[in-house]
Amino acid sequence: MLPQEIVRTKRDGQPLDAATIQDFVRGITDGRVSESQAAAFAMAVFFRGMSLDERVALTRAMRDSGTVMEWTSLNLPGPVIDKHSTGGVGDKVSLILAPMLAACGGFVPMVSGRGLGHTGGTLDKFESIPGYRAKPDNELLRRVVKEVGCAVIGATDDIAPADKRLYAIRDVTATVESLDLITASILSKKLAAGLDALVMDVKFGTGAFMQRFEDAEALADSIVTVSKGAGLPAVALLTDMNEVLGRSAGNALEMRECLAILRGEPAEPRLYEVTAALAAELLALAGLAPDAAAGRVLADRSIASGAAAERFSRMVTALGGPADLLEQPDRHLERAPIVRPVFAERSGFAGAIDTRGVGMAVVALGGGRTKTTDTIDFAVGFDEVAGLGDAVGPGERPLAILHARTEAQADEAERRLRASVTVTDTAPERGPLIAKRLG
Ligand code: URA
Repeated sequence: MLPQEIVRTKRDGQPLDAATIQDFVRGITDGRVSESQAAAFAMAVFFRGMSLDERVALTRAMRDSGTVMEWTSLNLPGPVIDKHSTGGVGDKVSLILAPMLAACGGFVPMVSGRGLGHTGGTLDKFESIPGYRAKPDNELLRRVVKEVGCAVIGATDDIAPADKRLYAIRDVTATVESLDLITASILSKKLAAGLDALVMDVKFGTGAFMQRFEDAEALADSIVTVSKGAGLPAVALLTDMNEVLGRSAGNALEMRECLAILRGEPAEPRLYEVTAALAAELLALAGLAPDAAAGRVLADRSIASGAAAERFSRMVTALGGPADLLEQPDRHLERAPIVRPVFAERSGFAGAIDTRGVGMAVVALGGGRTKTTDTIDFAVGFDEVAGLGDAVGPGERPLAILHARTEAQADEAERRLRASVTVTDTAPERGPLIAKRLG
């Protein structure tokens, strides 16, 4: 069928079969489908939606538009597993989770992205490590996954190239916000990693991609259903992003926070809880634990025993980073020249947090991007960030400690951080951290 006929069919609300969807996606990949046709298709999907069968077909076709990683020939003695998060502010879960899963018998080729807008990206956090090769060649990647159990890397151009082109078109045609297209976009890349099981962290709240709980729930449901339909067992947790996860936001600062947790130092409880819960679910789903409760015991033990830390260090070394990063972070991770506390203007409690605003304050410091070509200052950001309900005020606990490159950036970020936190006379009720499990 001609591309315009495929667009017409969807525009008129008629179903598309798998072969037709596959043909259209091939056309997106090889350029046979023009930009305007892809945009019109995205808009037709936005308004008409897709059936489950169509979503699965679109996901599979986008997966097959590029390389699909193959692990069977390595004869790995455990399942190939991964987590995906819809992203948030201070979301550093992957830094702890990947080595945790490896220490529990999983093999984790964690293909991660860069941050854009208010959300940070796992890849940027790893690129704050001097020498770390985030884009190893295929041979090195396979060796590290086999020998260490985990490799956190960036997506190569040959992973789901149809998604790359379609996403860029959606971005400028107001069609990003389609559940069908988001589902296919996220899952095509995960399926291309050749996984045996997937856990999704779908965030809701002021710092999340989907702020409303109902929207996040619908996305989680769609991802789990389509993933299973495409042959990849999946579980999703809906987790709270109404405040920064952990105590830091900014690349090297987040890396420091995770290194401390891996060394066995006390973790910020919400960060640890989300990480361990995702690990527990995935270990159970992949058959590495009889159930999530047993998975949780394994996950906790991997931190307490130092096994996760050992995997982390081996991964960093194997990918070109310093061997003593875990023990000597100050020797390797850059520090910003200006470090100062940011106080609230009056005493009270951190009663409501516009977490997106905190993320944009990190961008104002140079620690994030407003467009994909921006370069990042790894050293800047916030640590000791106040959580909901913390008592704050002038001369008391600061809202955060700010790390900045220039005074002008520091002043702007300070203003943004203050504007993001509403100080109240009484402590707010926190909602549940893990609001729902779908699977
Ligand atoms: N993240 C993705 O990878 N794709 C989308 O469409 C939205 C968020």
